[in-house]
Amino acid sequence: MAEEIKTIKVTIDNITIDVAPGTTILQAARMIGGDVAPPAMCYYSKLKGSGGKCRTCLVEVSKGSNADPRPMPKLVASCRTGVMDGMEVKNITSERVIDARNGVVEFLLLNHPLDCPICDQAGECHLQDLGYEHGKEGTRYEFKRRTFEKHDLGPYIQLHMTRCILCYRCVFVADQLTDKRVHGVLSRGDHAEIATYIEKSLNNDFIGNVIDVCPVGALTDRTFRFKNRVWFTKPVDAHRECPTCSGKVTLWQRGDEVLRVTARKDEWGEVKDWICNTCRFDKKHAGDWVIEGPTKINRHSVISQGHYVGLKKPKETVAAVMGGREPKLLMDIHSVSEVNSPGIDLGAIPGPATSDTFNPNPKP
Ligand code: SF4
Ligand code: FES
Repeated sequence: MAEEIKTIKVTIDNITIDVAPGTTILQAARMIGGDVAPPAMCYYSKLKGSGGKCRTCLVEVSKGSNADPRPMPKLVASCRTGVMDGMEVKNITSERVIDARNGVVEFLLLNHPLDCPICDQAGECHLQDLGYEHGKEGTRYEFKRRTFEKHDLGPYIQLHMTRCILCYRCVFVADQLTDKRVHGVLSRGDHAEIATYIEKSLNNDFIGNVIDVCPVGALTDRTFRFKNRVWFTKPVDAHRECPTCSGKVTLWQRGDEVLRVTARKDEWGEVKDWICNTCRFDKKHAGDWVIEGPTKINRHSVISQGHYVGLKKPKETVAAVMGGREPKLLMDIHSVSEVNSPGIDLGAIPGPATSDTFNPNPKP
């Protein structure tokens, strides 16, 4: 008889879920999905040992477990804390968490330049999203920001250390995907930097993945830098027969031109399959690829502003926004408003419509 797998119960933001032992709070929250999942700037499910660096994923454990129901006195990093049976966790339902996250964002932005308008990562930057959700209008930091020179890491990658938040993801990529890691975080504290020896790891076929895992614009694709804003491009899923990697990618196109090739990402912004440098940097013609169709982009993302040809819009939008229910009362705007007169062809009038357009002979 197959051995029964024991699951344990955890409640996050009042939603209870059964998970396997060994699951972390963050993984359990992602199983529930939506806003219940804390943000994660350093944890990456596909990189062993990641997490525990940025503290954006802090949560409040209001009940430790059924065996020991005492709350945990301090907020904990959800990416590094395993769930216990009966544990109760608060994420967005905790004011302490929101307050702490605001503080973490302020710390992350101490030295991070506010150069989103000229940063290639703008529009797909996790720190930018976090800044909008938790950031303050101004900074309390009065000192000179820490800055570094830009550093070309070979022909394909540029390191802009000034933007780095020291999440270590790129170090884990080099460690776990390439034969030999030759870069890391040098120095400590304010002087800590990803540097010096990273060039030496560039010969490896998979080093381009550091660009995709970088949550900010510290590591960017030199073949795409300043070519376009990401929200003007159209992402499509495509694949090719590749002897080195899965060959499953996202092409970022403008018209027929392929401006950038990246790995495909899941709803948490993590790479689904690592791709090789040849697919990423050398295959920049649409003819190199078999196009599968538009990439599914979260509709809240600025990238979804791109319009797809052939997009199917619902015919009955009223029922769609009302969750399938039909409205009880529907008024025709033309019959209840003198302003919106159906007899006026707005397309035929010169300039914008004014009240004179609808009522050219007002009563004295
Ligand atoms: S360069 Fe990017 S991926 Fe590497 S540690 Fe800095 S922020 Fe993280
Ligand atoms: S994601 Fe948990 S500490 Fe960074």
